[in-house]
Amino acid sequence: MKDLLIVANWKSNKTKAETKDWVEQFSKGELPLENKEVIICPSFTILAKLNHLISDKNLTIKLGAQNISPFGKGAYTGEINGEQIKEFADFVIIGHSERRNYFDENQDVLNRKVIVALENSLTPIFCVSSAVQEIPKGIRIVAYEPIEAIGTGNPDTPENAGKVAREIKEKNPEVEKVLYGGSVTDENVSSFTKLDDIDGVLVGTSSLSASSFSQLIKNA
Ligand code: PGA
Repeated sequence: MKDLLIVANWKSNKTKAETKDWVEQFSKGELPLENKEVIICPSFTILAKLNHLISDKNLTIKLGAQNISPFGKGAYTGEINGEQIKEFADFVIIGHSERRNYFDENQDVLNRKVIVALENSLTPIFCVSSAVQEIPKGIRIVAYEPIEAIGTGNPDTPENAGKVAREIKEKNPEVEKVLYGGSVTDENVSSFTKLDDIDGVLVGTSSLSASSFSQLIKNA
């Protein structure tokens, strides 16, 4: 059995109360996690809360942030820096297409974010929408997420996702894991995770409900 990484991207969702309910429900399912590493990436406002809840319930879940400041600490109003994130999380998503599109994050900004993450011992999960997109130095985990598959209910075909994952690894020998993301559900997850070149999934919509996410983990 290969090791799988299952990453939940909660995006801009969930209050503290909703997070408590999610953990309550998630912790009821007895999940066989031997070969599966589960990482949840919530909003900054609930990172601390989630951190407490998962240690209270003894859950073997790791945490990630969805964003990081391209700067260190200092006069950067509204930004959360790498040192601050490291107090709560070990991972950070960088380069998600929603950040690239809605917040104009270009390759230069993404490169700086990766450097800041690595300086603070955070593992970046670097998102690309194709095998030709640039992957900065030091990236070990890439998420391949075709834009037309995100949040649409129309995932890529497993054949194509596997092919792109292989191309990414061939072009970037430093990359150890490629995840697939885009409309992954409990029903289609195994068609991706069974492929040799796919090492896990990045899940948006299907991670928001604890029961569908638990089912997805079981089926992966
Ligand atoms: P989705 O989102 O699962 O809702 O398609 C995936 C993502 O954007 O990471």
